[in-house]
Amino acid sequence: MACAVVAARRVSSTGVVRMMTPSYCVTLKDVQEAQRRIQGFVHSTPVMTCSSLDALAARKLFFKCELLQKTGSFKIRGAINAVKSLPSDKCTAVVTHSSGNHGQALALAAQIMGIPAYIVVPNTAAACKKSAILGYGALVVDCEPTDKSRAEVAANTVQKTGGVLIHPNQDPAVIAGQGTIGFEILQQVPGLEALVIPVGGGGMLAGIAVAVKALVVGPLGFLLRYLLPSLRIRDRVSRSSCAPLGGKADR
Ligand SMILES: Cc1ncc(COP(=O)(O)O)c(C=O)c1O
Repeated sequence: MACAVVAARRVSSTGVVRMMTPSYCVTLKDVQEAQRRIQGFVHSTPVMTCSSLDALAARKLFFKCELLQKTGSFKIRGAINAVKSLPSDKCTAVVTHSSGNHGQALALAAQIMGIPAYIVVPNTAAACKKSAILGYGALVVDCEPTDKSRAEVAANTVQKTGGVLIHPNQDPAVIAGQGTIGFEILQQVPGLEALVIPVGGGGMLAGIAVAVKALVVGPLGFLLRYLLPSLRIRDRVSRSSCAPLGGKADR
């Protein structure tokens, strides 16, 4: 099964506590803002299960099906967030280098925002990827299939067009957009013990890690978040006065 994110939960979860550190360039707030920005522009993708794979793995597995996402991958989350968070004077054109999924995603994001997109694509890329990019109304700029050529041609294209470079995995707004997968899966599958995330440049991993590490998950988290503060102030600490999943970072 081709799924972007696999999550695992043991039957008797003990829960974990994760805290944000202030040193990340992308914060929980950035991911929350990304979630608001991309709402209505992306699908909340389904989570599927498979009992045969559960038996093989000896645990319950949950597959977050980002392959059913708009443009066919999670990349649209980061692309929409990046384009929508550009200041209005910079929101005139966008440029990226990508052999496929980010290129298609940025092409659609730019089309939605009514601005041109220039996608630098290696001349060896599959024709179907180029035609998908063209289908979303972007312009394809050919480069050699090397990192050096990609970067050089993208830099030249930025210079010629005045567009903003939206890097496929290093741009903080792209990372924050991909992090919204983390919010969704925690809401869809309470009590998860582990997330297994594919890594290319690391943008999706970083975004999901920021989102998930900032949230308290499971019974131990419940104890720390609600019960201990209640005992301390000798009054009931309600869910609404505490950080919900996808809410504020833990105190
Ligand atoms: C389908 C798919 N999964 C995973 C990745 C890896 O994402 P990242 O580069 O953010 O690590 C990519 C990147 O192109 C992708 O297209």
